[in-house]
Amino acid sequence: MIQIDRNHVTKNELADLLRREDFRDVYELADRIRAENVGDVVHIRAILEFSNHCRRVCRYCGLNARNSALPRYRMKPEEMIETAQEAARAGYRTLVMQSGEDPWYTPEILGEIVREIKRSAKMAITLSCGERSRDVYAYWKECGADRYLIKQETADPAIYASLHPDSSLEERVACLKNLKSLGYETGSGFMIGLPGQTAETIAMDLLLLREIGCDMAGIGPFIPHPDTPLRDQPPGSSELCKRAVALARILLPKANLPATTALGVLNGKEKNDIFSCGANVVMRKVTPTSYKRLYEIYPASLTDTDILADRRQLEEQIRHLDRIPL
Ligand code: 5AD
Repeated sequence: MIQIDRNHVTKNELADLLRREDFRDVYELADRIRAENVGDVVHIRAILEFSNHCRRVCRYCGLNARNSALPRYRMKPEEMIETAQEAARAGYRTLVMQSGEDPWYTPEILGEIVREIKRSAKMAITLSCGERSRDVYAYWKECGADRYLIKQETADPAIYASLHPDSSLEERVACLKNLKSLGYETGSGFMIGLPGQTAETIAMDLLLLREIGCDMAGIGPFIPHPDTPLRDQPPGSSELCKRAVALARILLPKANLPATTALGVLNGKEKNDIFSCGANVVMRKVTPTSYKRLYEIYPASLTDTDILADRRQLEEQIRHLDRIPL
C-alpha cells in the first residue's frame, strides 16, 4: 500500500501523484482514510439558491453581472423560510443558502432570515453568498449561521486575477481566514480545468486547503458556460477532479468533501464511483423549479421533482453503494 505523509508531502510530490499513470492505490488509500475518519455516512445537504443577482464579473460563471441574457430573480424572505421548512420536513438537517453577491440582502435582512429558519426549521445553516467584511460574517454567526462556503477557486494568484478582474486571491484567502477565526465551519474548494492550470497549480490548491484548515472542500470540474468569456474552453477532466478529491481526503482526513454537483453533470454514466474517491457529502437543490433553472452557474440538465421524492431517490442510490444516507 502506498504511503503519503500528509504533513510533509510537497507540492512537487503531489503534482507527480496527480500525473501518475495508475492512480488505483491512491484511490484505495483515500477510501480507507475516509472510512476510518468519517465512516460510511453520506451527508445530504439541501441547497437553496435564493438569488442569481451578482455584482461580480467572474469570467467562468454564468451569473456574472455582465451576462445580460440571464433573467434575474430574488426570493422573498417568506418564500425562503417556507422552502427551508419543507426541506426540514423531508429530512434535511443542513440548509446551504447560496446566492450571487447580491447587496439587496443586507446583513440585517439575511440575518433575520437565518434567525427565523434556525428558530422554525432547526437546521444547521451554511451561508454561501460571497465576500463580506469580518464584521458582517461575525453578525451572521450571531444570527445563527454555523458554516460558510467561499471557494479559493484557484491557488495561483495570476490565474485568480485573470478570472476575477474585480478581486484578488489575497482578499479571498483573507475572507476564509476571517471565517475560520470567527468559529465558522469553513469551506473552500477549487475548480479543475481552468485555463493555465497545471498539476502544480492543483498541488498548490491542495496545500492551501490544508493551510487554511478547511472543514469542507468542494472540488469540481470547470464547465464552460456559453454566455461567459470562457465559452470556448474545454471542460475540466472528471478523472483529474476525482484524483484531487482523493488527495484532499488524504491531506484533510476529517473534512467534509462533497461529490460536487458539477462532477455529477459531467459524470452521467459513472455516478456510481463518485463516492469511492474520498467524498462523503452530496448537495441537493431544493430551490423552487422556476428559479432553479435561472441559477445557471454552468449549464446542467435539471429535472422537475419535489423535495421529498428527490431526497428519497438519492437516499436509495446511496444505500445501493453500501453507504448510509443522513
Ligand atoms: N464551472 C464549474 N464550476 C463553476 N462555478 C462557477 N462557475 C463555474 C463553472 N463554469 C463554481 C465556483 C463557485 C461555485 C458556486 O460554483 O467554484 O465557487
